[in-house]
Amino acid sequence: MLMTVLALLAATVSSTNDRAAAIAAFSTVQQVLQHPRCQNCHIPGDAPLQFDAGLPHAMGVVRGPDGKGAPGLPCATCHNVVNPPASYGVHAPPGAPAWRLPPPNQKMVFINLSPAALCATVKNKKTNGGKDWAALIKHVTDDKLVGWGWHPGGTRAPVPIPRAELVAKFKQWAAAGGPCSGDEVARAGAMP
Ligand code: HEC
Ligand code: HEC
Repeated sequence: MLMTVLALLAATVSSTNDRAAAIAAFSTVQQVLQHPRCQNCHIPGDAPLQFDAGLPHAMGVVRGPDGKGAPGLPCATCHNVVNPPASYGVHAPPGAPAWRLPPPNQKMVFINLSPAALCATVKNKKTNGGKDWAALIKHVTDDKLVGWGWHPGGTRAPVPIPRAELVAKFKQWAAAGGPCSGDEVARAGAMP
């Protein structure tokens, strides 16, 4: 009996530690998701943003019906599947396969969200494009638009946290069930 209680206590302590470590891991994930190279496409508005300052995209570019731009001016008019050669200059349009914004009915916003709100939106299938944990991990590990953040071309600053570290922290957060820093507050609020 005593052993069972001790084992339970130990399990609770270790899951509390895992939770705290997972929430800390998510803060690294957040730093990447809210880096200008990532959040410039993960926006509530209808025009992609540009530069570290997040200015509205020049030339009146808009999201369009599927995220690929207005029918008359799709992203692919200017953005190729790879960055152009350096000889095109530092202001040439960068490129990666399927360059686009998320669709208007599922904008996958990262910019300006609190840690708790960002955490909740990333793990929610209703807001992340229907991705389960495996699909999310595959996306951060393999997706080419994500990968562009580490070789953005021109004089754009790449994401400073290595991609391997993003993947490791994302997996650690996922393995603990994706806890969010706001969860304690929500639970405390629910107590009688
Ligand atoms: C050119 C625009 C663009 C850039 C730049 C971009 N993304 Fe995305 N991102 C998208 C699109 C489009 C989707 C939707 C893809 C899908 O559902 O298949 C998406 C989806 C995602 C998702 C899954 C949806 C969610 O809400 O969790 C994650 C995670 C993500 N991106 C992370 C990143 C990270 C990290 C970076 C930077 C290293 C980045 N993205 C840069 C366009 C972009
Ligand atoms: C008419 C040409 C054109 C079209 C169409 C266009 N872009 Fe761009 N885009 C550019 C150019 C040029 C740059 C580089 C600007 C610079 O660095 O001075 C750029 C840069 C960007 C950047 C880099 C932002 C950063 O981190 O600094 C993103 C993101 C972007 N475009 C998204 C899009 C999306 C999404 C679409 C379609 C909805 C699109 N663009 C359509 C020309 C275009």
